[in-house]
Amino acid sequence: MKTVALSLLGISLDNRGKGKKRWERWRPTISLCQQDDLLIERMELIFPPQFQQLADEVSRDIKVISPQTKVRHHHIAQTDPWDFESVYADLHDFARHYSFDLEKENYLIHITTGTHVAQICLYLLTEANYLRGRLIQTSPVPNNGSQRSTYQIIDLDLSKYDRIASRFSKEHIEGAAQLKGGIETKNKLFNKTIAQLEQVSIRSHHPILLTGSTGTGKTALAKRIFQLKKQRGQLTGFLVEVNCATLRGDNAMSALFGHIKGAFTGAVNNRQGLLLEADRGVLFLDEIGELGLDEQAMLLRAIEEKSFTPFGSDKTVSSNFQLISGTNRDLFVQVKKGLFRADLLARINLWTYCLPCLKQRLEDLEPNIDYELEQFSLQSGSLIGFNTAAREKYIKFATSPLTEWAANFRDLNASITRMATLAPGGRITIDIVEDEIQRLKKNWGKIIKLKKKNQINPLIKQPIDLFDQVQVEEVIKICQNSASAAEAGRVLFNISRQNKTSNNDSHRLTQFLKKFGLSFDELKKKI
Ligand SMILES: Nc1ncnc2c1ncn2[C@@H]1O[C@H](COP(=O)(O)OP(=O)(O)OP(=O)(O)O)[C@@H](O)[C@H]1O
Ligand SMILES: [Mg+2]
Repeated sequence: MKTVALSLLGISLDNRGKGKKRWERWRPTISLCQQDDLLIERMELIFPPQFQQLADEVSRDIKVISPQTKVRHHHIAQTDPWDFESVYADLHDFARHYSFDLEKENYLIHITTGTHVAQICLYLLTEANYLRGRLIQTSPVPNNGSQRSTYQIIDLDLSKYDRIASRFSKEHIEGAAQLKGGIETKNKLFNKTIAQLEQVSIRSHHPILLTGSTGTGKTALAKRIFQLKKQRGQLTGFLVEVNCATLRGDNAMSALFGHIKGAFTGAVNNRQGLLLEADRGVLFLDEIGELGLDEQAMLLRAIEEKSFTPFGSDKTVSSNFQLISGTNRDLFVQVKKGLFRADLLARINLWTYCLPCLKQRLEDLEPNIDYELEQFSLQSGSLIGFNTAAREKYIKFATSPLTEWAANFRDLNASITRMATLAPGGRITIDIVEDEIQRLKKNWGKIIKLKKKNQINPLIKQPIDLFDQVQVEEVIKICQNSASAAEAGRVLFNISRQNKTSNNDSHRLTQFLKKFGLSFDELKKKI
């Protein structure tokens, strides 16, 4: 690979020293071609036409100290070297028209010459990949005769610098720990989710969607994301939280988007609305699946255009907020049911994180138990702990796959609260643990029964009203117990048959099943 340097002619630095004296002075562009361990095979010298004479002198001197270096001249128009816009435009033009041959040549962009404005522009153009090389700077060697010089190549991929990389990773680890509330979690999936979320929180202003069952920590995590962003100087505004399940009717519109005085009966004053309050901060829409369709349409516009119209007003207002949404519903199912707008889902479903249930991260129960105990101790002002055998028993139960942890952290929090409250002298005993285990088992037993009762037959794939569900489930059972559609029809339409009001039972049954995406043969196959 050939090494090619692109350098602005240094109008003052490359013009130092007259006659022989010039060899005693440090001249950056010339010194770049004078390095023992760096052969510049071609120098692309960039300058405004009025400095042709200086460029010729510099080119001659380069030939003297480095005969292998071929120097090529490039004119750029330069009206005002201190004007950012015009310097950027000139260098941008140069970069666009220069043909980089990356397969055969390495490029070094020399940033020691030129005004500070030009140096900033060279940096920006290199970072944006218009200039396809690495930055290089030259400098005189201090206290060693000013004609000696050295150079340093600056790679914009900062992760290549060990000390910088370790700073980044320390910051990343601290950020992730903050998102985890300082709890040493071990679950791989959860830790991976948090590690990515830390990066997204810092680098992106786009919507974040947190999903997962109730009590998995969505609300708590949203608050921590806000704190992390605030700490890293990403935002100056507030965290504005709203649970969408509490927004209904006119109140929903005006709570979110504000209203003007007199917009409706009872609107006696202007109201700012939550979206405006969240300007430059975070708007956390918890339970977003509960938001009404009209509000969803307005919200979509507010996210896309960063502006919206308060209720009753004819003027739009703007607000620049980061949206974090939380939901324990499957929003795709909600879209299918016509309860959630597909376009809004597409907009908020960019950085989506599903928080795992406690049952899926049993290895994290122990650190979370300690965390809950610590929290309780802090709040109650007295230190609470387990007796050794009691702790072993509780942890063994808590981490057994037979546990439900149906309401996730809420269950854990309630369980620790109960035991800590009953702990005599601040010690949780084995008796307390045994009672607690019985209590949890009893609670979960009720939940499992309820779940079973409400479980929809898995053969029914489409959303279905309870009214239809009851009927379809019974029909499925009868079909599965019958040898043929005709036999099932005889059972199902017995009265109509006797009254002779129905003549083709199989057809009637087939039509009914079809309405719910089912067929008799399919039902029989899946027993
Ligand atoms: N990582 C965690 N470790 C320990 N406790 C947690 C953690 N995350 C949340 N909690 C606690 O668990 C409880 C429920 O958490 P949170 O309200 O964030 O859940 P959620 O997923 O938003 O639930 P819902 O869907 O019902 O709104 C809160 O008391 C919270 O402080
Ligand atoms: Mg919540």
